[in-house]
Amino acid sequence: MAKLIIRGGNRLEGVMRICGAKNSVLPILAASLLVSEKSVLQNCPALSDVRLASEILRRLGCTVEREEDRITIDPAHADGTVIPEKLMSEMRSSIIFLGAMAARNGRAVLSAPGGCDLGPRPIDLHLAALRKMGAEIVEEGGIVDCRVNGRLHGAEIRFPFVSVGATENVLIAAAAADGATRILNAACEPEICDLAQFLIRCGARITGAGTSRIIVEGVRKLHGCEHRVIPDRIAAATYLLAASVTGGDITLSDVEPQQLSAVLPRLQETGCELSVGSRRIRVRAKGRPKALSPLVTAPYPGFPTDAQAPFMALCCIADGTTAFEETIFRNRFRHAAELNRMGAEIGVTGQSAVVKGVPFLHGARVSATDLRGGAALVLAALSAEGETEISQVHHIDRGYESMECALSSLGASAVRTETWQIKEENRIIRTAFAM
Ligand code: EPZ
Repeated sequence: MAKLIIRGGNRLEGVMRICGAKNSVLPILAASLLVSEKSVLQNCPALSDVRLASEILRRLGCTVEREEDRITIDPAHADGTVIPEKLMSEMRSSIIFLGAMAARNGRAVLSAPGGCDLGPRPIDLHLAALRKMGAEIVEEGGIVDCRVNGRLHGAEIRFPFVSVGATENVLIAAAAADGATRILNAACEPEICDLAQFLIRCGARITGAGTSRIIVEGVRKLHGCEHRVIPDRIAAATYLLAASVTGGDITLSDVEPQQLSAVLPRLQETGCELSVGSRRIRVRAKGRPKALSPLVTAPYPGFPTDAQAPFMALCCIADGTTAFEETIFRNRFRHAAELNRMGAEIGVTGQSAVVKGVPFLHGARVSATDLRGGAALVLAALSAEGETEISQVHHIDRGYESMECALSSLGASAVRTETWQIKEENRIIRTAFAM
């Protein structure tokens, strides 16, 4: 398996362009199934999750072509109704295809995304909402079999708590449903707005995206469109932190600062100097980071759960103690044990963690536990004394484009040992395609 070898102590500085958002392009790729003609997505990140989502579309009968950061999807012959279990197990978020497949072909058969690194990944909200819109769904032996007689119909969907994926599934299904759908207690993340913007460009009638109350008037036919995916706010947060943990000076371009409204003040709290332009953010670290006041994750516009692990890496070397409360996922502190192997002092109790800052970390052999936990280990390695070897790098490749190359361009000593990972990805896709 591929490994990252990082030698800490280099001060990172320079300019980096932030790529398109993983958590935006994935639901938009699913939504492209709804339309009757070609769609072209620009600013698509080169990530394993995006390659897997593209394979799912091909498996369903679409042609999907990538040229640089542009992906063209032609769903003309997308009459597939089954997502191979192998592809589902590789990417939990494939459940996002359910609404689009049900709306387009009246049938969707996929395996329930089992537990993963963040804890159980239930889909009860997705299924309850689609049932309310007329889908007949049978769950048996880990397989979800969804049928729609005729068209889905509009409904009032009131979520008991915020779910990004369930909001996206309903938004997609409702765009082509018969009648109006009201989504109450909807997720407000920027990725929801981006998905809505794509659907509106395809002819959908949506109001309220970005608020907790979204109204969708279903339309009979949606056409293709061209759409530029928004920048990845979590990748931006991660690279801003790379400046902070190395005493560096990094400028990010092609970012949307307002999407980081809960993150930037916390960076300033650590003592960083920020200068924010319309699509640029510069961070200059000033000495050892200061500890933070309690950091509690919450749905947007609260502090993003995906930035929790990267911030924890910073707090490991901060001057003082920081308390974390993870309110979104049940098991999102698995990176703490790996950080402690590098000399961090983190205590975890359930969904709370206390990080007592130490003057420095030391290099170690650690293993990425999940996507953002892996990013936290990279940040810790950049600041550590000595060399760190990070295994299970495929987790990191799901959400960061060639992280070692991006960091090396800023002055880091970071290399990937094997390219075996790419071969493994291709093997997974080949076997899935052959099924
Ligand atoms: C999306 O996951 C993101 N993934 C996650 O990013 C992100 O952490 C999460 O939203 C929260 O912002 C993508 O967009 C591909 P949820 P999602 O439904 O949709 C529970 C990353 O690192 N829940 O908002 O799966 C669920 O278990 C990834 O980029 C149910 O109980 O998250 C969780 O505790 C990680 N039943 C909470 O709700 C359901 O039917 C929020 O999950 C659905 C969710």
